[in-house]
Amino acid sequence: MTRVVVLSDLHLSPTHGFFWPNWLLARDAASRLDAACTIVNGDLCIDGPDSDAEMDFAARALATLPGTVLPLPGNHDIGDEPPGQDPNQLVDEARLARWDKAIGPDRWRFRFDGWTLLGVNAQLFGSGLARETEQNDWLDAMLADAKGDRVGLVMHKPLFVESPDEALPSPASLCPAPRGELVQRFCRADIRLVISGHLHKYRDRPIDGLRHLWVPSTAFAGERGLEGDARCGFAVLDFDGDHVGVEIIRPEGLISHNLAAIKQDGRYRFLREMPACPPELAA
Ligand SMILES: [Fe+2]
Ligand SMILES: [Fe+2]
Repeated sequence: MTRVVVLSDLHLSPTHGFFWPNWLLARDAASRLDAACTIVNGDLCIDGPDSDAEMDFAARALATLPGTVLPLPGNHDIGDEPPGQDPNQLVDEARLARWDKAIGPDRWRFRFDGWTLLGVNAQLFGSGLARETEQNDWLDAMLADAKGDRVGLVMHKPLFVESPDEALPSPASLCPAPRGELVQRFCRADIRLVISGHLHKYRDRPIDGLRHLWVPSTAFAGERGLEGDARCGFAVLDFDGDHVGVEIIRPEGLISHNLAAIKQDGRYRFLREMPACPPELAA
């Protein structure tokens, strides 16, 4: 059996410390699990697309995790692919370069016991950037090389929210055209599992023979109106042949913050616009 920890949506910042205590609780609990690797599935930051300091802060936080740490970028780290939630924060070369410099690669492979996990940069799909083509070529090579292995795909955004047929572009998931291309790619391999974050909900659902696992946030609760468990936490995956056991860990003291309340019920549109409230870093 191989154990993998998946943390997601930390939303850390040196100027806005709402979620720092939750991070410390999650990090300490995750560190005790002796996992083969710890995946950090995007949204490390609040304002990573526009702040060197924020990305460096997240990098220092990740450096306190033990063992093999496998980060992936989210929209709060490098910006969204178009159309995105905020037209001022779309993914571009400069934002990718900031991630590269502070964090490192934005895609990776992790192999163990008949499994290949492939972590990809979700925000590249539909971005039109040169790195989107590079990533697709890399993915083709990795999928070809994974022949005989069960494959798990890890990325910040889910492929879709409710149905693979969703036709409208949405910042909640991959957009329809790049989603279709990605599905064509990975259908050539023995794909078993897609792991995503971004929606701040836990959900574990087989759809058309593929298991879609949504990992909760360590920072704040997901919105109502979408099925799934909105409470904060992180996931522990135990891979044993064809079986993948999933447990959601919610360390004592972890607060499932209400984002709307933090943003003072509409007074602030984005957390980054709020008055500074730095985290207490003594711990
Ligand atoms: Fe998030
Ligand atoms: Fe996100």
